[in-house]
Amino acid sequence: MNESSSDRIVAALREWVASAPAGARLPSTRSLVAQFEASPVTVQKALKALIDQGAIESRPGVGTFVRAARTARPNDYGWQTAALGSPQQHLPAASVALRAASNDVIALHSGYPDKELLPERLVRAAFARAARSEAALNRPPAAGMPELRSWFAAELANATPTGLAAPTASDVVIVPGSQSGLGSLFRSLVGAGRPLLIESPTYWGATLAAAQVGVQLVPIPSGPNGPDPADVERAFAQTGARAFYAQPNFANPNGAQWAPELADAVLRIVRENGAFLIEDDWAHDFGITTDPAPLAARDDGGHVVYIRSLTKSVAPSVRVAGLIARGPARERILADAQAHAMYVSGVLQTVALDVVTQPAWRTHLRSLRGQLASRRDLLVDAIEEHAPTTHLESIPSGGLNLWLRLPDDTDVAQLVRDCEAEGVRVAAGDDWFPAEPPGRYLRLNYSGADPGAFPDGARVIGKLLAG
Ligand SMILES: Cc1ncc(COP(=O)(O)O)c(C=O)c1O
Repeated sequence: MNESSSDRIVAALREWVASAPAGARLPSTRSLVAQFEASPVTVQKALKALIDQGAIESRPGVGTFVRAARTARPNDYGWQTAALGSPQQHLPAASVALRAASNDVIALHSGYPDKELLPERLVRAAFARAARSEAALNRPPAAGMPELRSWFAAELANATPTGLAAPTASDVVIVPGSQSGLGSLFRSLVGAGRPLLIESPTYWGATLAAAQVGVQLVPIPSGPNGPDPADVERAFAQTGARAFYAQPNFANPNGAQWAPELADAVLRIVRENGAFLIEDDWAHDFGITTDPAPLAARDDGGHVVYIRSLTKSVAPSVRVAGLIARGPARERILADAQAHAMYVSGVLQTVALDVVTQPAWRTHLRSLRGQLASRRDLLVDAIEEHAPTTHLESIPSGGLNLWLRLPDDTDVAQLVRDCEAEGVRVAAGDDWFPAEPPGRYLRLNYSGADPGAFPDGARVIGKLLAG
């Protein structure tokens, strides 16, 4: 027989397997080589194809065997119903913002920036270096690598006015992303059944983390300029809350940035109430026409607990965030973070530190600012041109999102489904409200793939609203 192609061997063996009992042993590779007058590589290729098809299985060191035919019988998981019981709490579903983007849709929904906005070269080089470093095998300290903690502290120290004590590395805890940090903060600083003031609208993941902890949310209306301090003062007085979760810079979803006077007023109220302000500085690296001004830089009394994520600006794979807290609160937060995750992978911390300490990181941030500006403006223009019945309450000075008010009679869930059917993925604003939405909104993210398609996306939204 001439040298057989692997396809011929596959066909012949499949016939043999079909008539052999489950568990029957196949001839050795050497006998198959002889039988088919094929090279060992060709025989191996054929065997691999049959393994991939699930017809045979290889048990290393023992041999290759015919696999038992897969049964079509559905598994019975009914017993789990009794074992699980009913859930202690019904958590809200994760937002559409977490859905992956795909090439065949115009993605205006995503919460994480497209690859072209990431410092890809820096990240790849940092991973290569980290793989060769001790971090690839070692366990870092529970609070995080000292050098990375120093970096987070120094970033905030740079914004600290003279006369106030700047934070240091010993105030920092590294956590595996802000999402898990928010859970730790809500557990440590608020606790189940206790009230937490929260802006409305706010980041859906914060309401999810709060629901998981079981804290009681007290929504404070917040517009394009942030909340009204009188509302904050009243809510503290009425509820006895000891914490307020807020995003004073480029809030997700509405892009609000607090003016210095508002920041001062809220800080005063927080201090007077002996409370914490949990400041989520998620978009620190996404300033467009203004720079972020963290409130935490204006407080050295331990009232502001600050969290800054790198997962959006460095890379979604580098789930690293820095949490800065002063006083005994920090110990409590660290204990909680440790109970949940023990420590953050040293590889990820090393990569994060490597990227943000390269001179090219600053260059990247400067070019990112320009890219975000043109993407934002492109989407704003497209919406204004093609969806005239909608209203943008503000053009954000930073962040990644437009917060689009829709006509009051819009069925938002239906609009989102119709958009998806037309190849445009958008996020219903309802997810960003901790209570009933007071209006109809879409959150449109301008950091997704292919900004050239934004006008088409806006056209679809406008057409569906007009219809
Ligand atoms: C306001 C805000 N906080 C926190 C997070 C979560 O960040 P991380 O990716 O670090 O968990 C997000 C992500 O969308 C966010 O928008």
